[in-house]
Amino acid sequence: MEKEKRTHKSHCIALPYPSQGHINPMLQFSKRLVHNGAKVTLVPTCFISKSLLGDSGPITIETISDGYDEGGFAQAESGGAYMERFRVVGSETLGSLIEKLKSSGCPVDCVVYDAFLPWALDVAKKFGLVGAVFFTQSCTVNNIYYHVHQGMLTLPLSEPEVVVPGLFPLQACDLPSLVYLYGSYPDFFNMLVNQFSNIEKVDWVFCNTFYKLEEKVVDWMAKICPLRTIGPTLPSAYLDKRLGDDKDYGLNMLKPVTGACMEWLDSKPNGSVVYASYGSFAKLEPEQMEELAWGLRRSNAYFLMVVRESEQAKLPQKFKEETAEKGLVVSWCPQLEVLAHRAIGCFLTHAGWNSTLEALSLGVPMVVAPLWLDQPTNAKFVEDVCGVGLRARADDKGIVRREVLEDCIGKVMGSDGLKEIKNNALKWKNLAREAVDEGGSSDKCIDEFVAKLTAW
Ligand code: UDX
Repeated sequence: MEKEKRTHKSHCIALPYPSQGHINPMLQFSKRLVHNGAKVTLVPTCFISKSLLGDSGPITIETISDGYDEGGFAQAESGGAYMERFRVVGSETLGSLIEKLKSSGCPVDCVVYDAFLPWALDVAKKFGLVGAVFFTQSCTVNNIYYHVHQGMLTLPLSEPEVVVPGLFPLQACDLPSLVYLYGSYPDFFNMLVNQFSNIEKVDWVFCNTFYKLEEKVVDWMAKICPLRTIGPTLPSAYLDKRLGDDKDYGLNMLKPVTGACMEWLDSKPNGSVVYASYGSFAKLEPEQMEELAWGLRRSNAYFLMVVRESEQAKLPQKFKEETAEKGLVVSWCPQLEVLAHRAIGCFLTHAGWNSTLEALSLGVPMVVAPLWLDQPTNAKFVEDVCGVGLRARADDKGIVRREVLEDCIGKVMGSDGLKEIKNNALKWKNLAREAVDEGGSSDKCIDEFVAKLTAW
């Protein structure tokens, strides 16, 4: 059949998994596509869209349903029930949206979907569209899940050390917690492993990383699927200025306390503040929160600590009373602006992949205290592969103690600091910049994708 003559820009639907750590990179990737001449419609779920604050810039927003329009994930009986209903209702409503866009003169060419939602590829194929899967987590972590999916990594693990092709040597406890603690959260485990359920049918595979950061494993994965590295997905205002000053547009599920944070940081000397955050959905054990708070206080450095409102009751009362002298606690902050501030000397993080990549790209040394999911593997990566931070290790009860935190922060922040960590941080910052800059590895991959889509 002869193809109709194209009368529109290539149009992509971008379908993120409905959580902050997945919406951020998908939105930033969408901006890059727009910069390269594509049109993008970002499609959050109805429930999540009601809580998104901010500005999506030139990206249009439409919604689909996960079947839980009043409460989202929290309304479902279990993770498994949520994913199944999302698959059924999401497939129907995504199909209706594609039809609606076509009849309104804005036909879709491609569906870029989060790897947690593999059913979106079936919908794309049903409508004869290009299907592109977007992996939010690192290529290293995805390689591990791929091996589990293929039965090449047998669970439960029987050895304390694990050899995974394309990867650095790993102790079992460096693997994602769902793999290491096989059976702990079966619904999440299935979701992560099922990311690879239809990988052989997909047209493009995008991973939020950059080539030099994960060279070996990227080469390995590229042999089994059409993998392209497109990260780090930071607003270009922080890395290269080609999109102009785009840092003001982003979509937050929580309202950032911008003015107070930035004024407070402005009043502090260069490199004197520890920024501490555990991301958008971690719920800490009260004992862990207490250790974290006193660890920061004992470090004697200034600290900016993010504790979401739902977590604030876990902070010790005495700590709250004493904070004013050295620290500021806020419920949410503009993290990139904070990390880019001259006053920040170190990031105490749970090592979520976005936070890791953001700190790495902005040259901020880290103290990593992972909780679960991909975070232990990211922590290993930060400490041993990139050499840009120290891991604060938990005790037998799984709690990272205040003395350990104090010690790690002291080593990273101290006046002579760990020179090697600081040098490495600068090296990775430059390499991240190179990747997204004109002609860089990630930039070329995005160029190639949009050019092929246009010719399609
Ligand atoms: C989750 C998982 O925990 C993580 O391991 C996975 O790789 C992605 O999904 P989350 O726990 O929220 O994400 O952590 P992270 O990946 O670090 O993402 C948090 C995002 O929220 C970052 O982009 C960060 O910049 C942003 N953030 C965080 C803010 O904008 N303000 C804050 O105060 C805290």
